[in-house]
Amino acid sequence: MDVLWERLGEVGQEVCTINSQDALVLTGTVVTAFDGQPASVCYVAKADESSGVTRMADVTMQWTGKMRTLSLRHDANGRWWVNDHHEPTLDGLDDVDLGVTPATNTLPIRRLGLAVGQSTSMTAAWVRFPALTVTPLAQRYTRQARDRYVYQSLASGYQALLTVDADGVVQSYEGVWRRVSLGPAVPRDPVITPLSPRDFDEIAGSVDSWWGRPVADLLHRFMFAHFCDTSFVVHVDGRPVAFLLGFVSPAHPDEAYVHMLGVDPAHRGEGLGRRLYEAFFALVRQRGVVRVRAVTSPINGASIAFHRAVGFTLEPGDRVVDGNPVHSGHDGPGVDRVAFVRQLD
Ligand SMILES: CC(C)(COP(=O)(O)OP(=O)(O)OC[C@H]1O[C@@H](n2cnc3c(N)ncnc32)[C@H](O)[C@@H]1OP(=O)(O)O)[C@@H](O)C(=O)NCCC(=O)NCCS
Repeated sequence: MDVLWERLGEVGQEVCTINSQDALVLTGTVVTAFDGQPASVCYVAKADESSGVTRMADVTMQWTGKMRTLSLRHDANGRWWVNDHHEPTLDGLDDVDLGVTPATNTLPIRRLGLAVGQSTSMTAAWVRFPALTVTPLAQRYTRQARDRYVYQSLASGYQALLTVDADGVVQSYEGVWRRVSLGPAVPRDPVITPLSPRDFDEIAGSVDSWWGRPVADLLHRFMFAHFCDTSFVVHVDGRPVAFLLGFVSPAHPDEAYVHMLGVDPAHRGEGLGRRLYEAFFALVRQRGVVRVRAVTSPINGASIAFHRAVGFTLEPGDRVVDGNPVHSGHDGPGVDRVAFVRQLD
C-alpha cells in the first residue's frame, strides 16, 4: 500500500510504502525543512510479522549540504545497536519511533492490538530529527474507537488524536499530518452484486496482496461457477474491491458457510465487509438457514475482531491462543483455525 501524507501548517510531504507480506516493512521518503533548511529523509523500518517487534531501521538524511545516516538493529536478545554500537539504554524496547513520520505509529498500534477502550504505556526508541539521536521515550496509546487513538508522550505531556485505517495506518495526526486521498471515490452506497465466474481471475490475482500472505490456493474457479447464487462482489470502476464467497450447506440445509471474505486494503473500514455479510445473511435466511459458520487463521486478529463485530461467536476449541479458542489441525496437520458461528434470528 502506498500512502501520501502532508504536513499541516509546515513544509512537508511524505510517500511511504507499507508492505505486510512477510514482515511489516515501512519504506518512506520525507521532504521537509529543519530550522528553515530544506531536508529529505529516506528510511526503512522493519518489524516481525508475528510479534510486531521492530527489528531494524535505517535512515538517510540530506540536510545543509550533508548526508547523514543512522542504522538501528534490534537483535534476538533484545539488545539495540546504534550504528553498530550497543546502546544499553534501548535494550528491551519493542518499537522504533522516527519523529519525522507518522508511519512508525503503525508499529505499536499493530503490535499492541488494543481493544476499543484499552490503554497501555510503552517505551519506544525515539529518533529525533535533525539531530538523529536515539533515546527511550515513554508513551501511551489509548484506543478510543475502532479508528481512533490518543497518543501521549509521557515525558512532555504532549498528546494528539490519531485516526487510522483498518490496517492501523495514520489517516490524520492531529495538527501535524494528514493522509492525502488519491484513490477513486467510493460510492456512498456501494452496489453489491452476485459474484460471477468472470470475477475469478481478478480476485484470485488480488487476494495474496489483500491478505498480505499467500491465500490464492484457497480459491478455485468452480467456486465462482457453483456458489455464485450465494456469493457477492462489490466493484469500483469495474474492478472487484470486495467479495464474499459462501454457500448453503448441501448436508445441513439449515446452515450456511462462508469460505472467504476479503476487502481491498484501500477500501477497508468503509463498512464493505459488514454489508457483504448482511447481504449474505438476508439471502440465506430466506432459504431457511438459521446459522452461518466460518473459520479463520488464529494469527488473523483483524478477521477475529471483524467477525465478532458482525455478530459471530467463537466456538470452543482444544486450546486458547491470545485469548481465542483454537482448533488445532482443523484444516490439516499444523493448520489451526478459529471457528465462528452466528445464529440468524
Ligand atoms: C477483515 C475484513 C474483511 C474487514 O473488512 P472491512 O470492510 O474493513 O470491515 P468493515 O468496515 O465492514 O467493519 C465492520 C466491523 O468490523 C470491525 N473491524 C473491521 N476490521 C477490523 C480490525 N482490523 N480491527 C478491529 N475491528 C475491525 C469494525 O469495528 C466494524 O465494526 P463496527 O461496524 O461496529 O464499527 C478486511 O480487513 C479484510 O479483507 N482482511 C483481509 C482478509 C481477511 O482476513 N478476511 C477474513 C477471513 S476470510
